[in-house]
Amino acid sequence: MDERAKRVYIHTFGCQMNEYDSERMGGELRAKGYVPVSDKKNAEYVIVNTCSVRKLAEEKAFSLIGALSAEKKVIVAGCMAQSMKEELFKKFPRLTAVVGTFKISRIAEIIENGKKRAYVDERSESYSGNIERKKEAAGFVTVMQGCDNFCSYCIVPYVRGRERSRGIEEIKEEITAMARAGYREVTLLGQNVNSYYDKKTGLDFPELLRETARIDGICRIKFMTSHPKDLSDELIRAVAEEEKAAKHFHLPVQSGSAAVLERMNRRYTPESYRERISAIRKAIPDCAITTDILVGFPGETNEDFEKTAALVSDVRFDSAFVFKYSERSGTKAEAFGDDVAKEEKTRRINYILGLQKKISDDIIKRDEGKTVLALGLNVSSKRPGEIEMSVDSGKKVFVRGSADLIGKMVKVKLVKARGMSFEGEII
Ligand code: 5AD
Ligand code: SF4
Repeated sequence: MDERAKRVYIHTFGCQMNEYDSERMGGELRAKGYVPVSDKKNAEYVIVNTCSVRKLAEEKAFSLIGALSAEKKVIVAGCMAQSMKEELFKKFPRLTAVVGTFKISRIAEIIENGKKRAYVDERSESYSGNIERKKEAAGFVTVMQGCDNFCSYCIVPYVRGRERSRGIEEIKEEITAMARAGYREVTLLGQNVNSYYDKKTGLDFPELLRETARIDGICRIKFMTSHPKDLSDELIRAVAEEEKAAKHFHLPVQSGSAAVLERMNRRYTPESYRERISAIRKAIPDCAITTDILVGFPGETNEDFEKTAALVSDVRFDSAFVFKYSERSGTKAEAFGDDVAKEEKTRRINYILGLQKKISDDIIKRDEGKTVLALGLNVSSKRPGEIEMSVDSGKKVFVRGSADLIGKMVKVKLVKARGMSFEGEII
C-alpha cells in the first residue's frame, strides 16, 4: 500500500461528544498504522462524523458526503449513521461504510476489513484509551453517554441509546494519562452528567468530580451538560468546594413557559429552574451560568415566548445558545406538528439573541480590570502572536506571549472585553 493509501481525514459536525469521538477514531486509526491528516486533499479516506440534532446539521453533512464520495472513500460515522443505517447507502451508493455511535472504537478494523456495511448494533461499546487529541493543554473525556429523558423534541435518546456510565477507574486512568502528557484542563462530558453512576463503587457525579479534581497535574475540571431537574445541592457544593472545579454551570432551560416545558417533557417548571439558579448563586456568587433555548416549539404562543424572554432578562445568563425548533422524525413532538411559522421563529430567535447580547456584554464588561488565574491553551490560530487562555468561568482571554505559556497557570489582567472573550496582559 502506498503512503497515501493510509491517510485519513476526519470531519466533525455537532457537539463536543462528537469531537471526542473523532479524537478517539483518530487515536484508533493511528494505533493501527493509519495517518490522520488535517487536510482532506491528501487523504484517501474521509470520515464524516455526523450530528442529527437539527435538520441543518444533517443537510450540511449530506452536501459534504455528496461532494466527497466521487473521489474519496467516505465513511459516515456518528449520529446520522446510527439513525439512518443502511438507508445511507441508498442515498450515497458509493459509501465505504456506515459506523454508528456504539462502534467508534472499532473504526480501524471496520476500514481494514473493507465490508460495505452499516455497523449499528448497540453492543460491545468500549474505550481503548487510544485518543489523538486536537488540543495540547485542554481535552474532553466522556464519562457517560446516552439519555433516558426523552425530551419530546430530541433525537439524542434514539441515536446515543440509553444512559450508561463509564467506570470511575477507567476515567481516572484516562485523565491521569492526560496529565502526564501535559494536559491541565479536562471537560467531563455527558448528555446529563447528573445521571452519572459507577455501578462498581456506587459513586455519583459529585464524587467523580471531586476525585478527578484531585488528580495530580490537572488544574481545572469542567463538565457539561446538567439537566435542571437533576441538579443536586451536592453537585453545587462540590463545585463550590473543589478549588479546581470551574465555577460554571451549563444548564439548558429551553423555555420559560410552564406549558411548553410540560409538552417538552422537561419535568421542571420555570419556578423550580429559577430556584436552582438561586441555589447556585447563593453558594457561588460569581458563578457563570450558560443555557440553551429553543424557540418555536410546536404550540408556542407569543405569550409563551414572552415568558422565555422574561426569564432570560431575569436570570441574566453569561451566554446562551438559541435554536429554532427543528422537527425530528421519530420523536414525540413530531406528532404535535411544526406549527410556528418560519418567519415567526426567525423573529423570536433574533429577539432572544439581541436581548442576550446586551446581557452578555454587560456581564463581561464587569470583569474588565480584574486579575484572574488563566491557563494557556494554545497558540491562537486567528490572532497571530497571541495565546488563547481560559479562565475559571469558562471564558477565554487572549494575551501576547509565546508558546511557553501553554499548559501554565498564570495571573492575567483582563484588560478589555472583546466580544465574548477578553484581551489580557500577563502580570
Ligand atoms: N430542534 C432544535 N434544537 C434542538 N435541540 C435539541 N433538539 C432540538 C431540535 N429538535 C437543542 C436543545 C439542546 C441543544 C443541545 O440542542 O436546546 O439543549
Ligand atoms: Fe435530549 Fe433532553 Fe436528553 Fe438533553 S436531556 S439529550 S435535550 S432528551
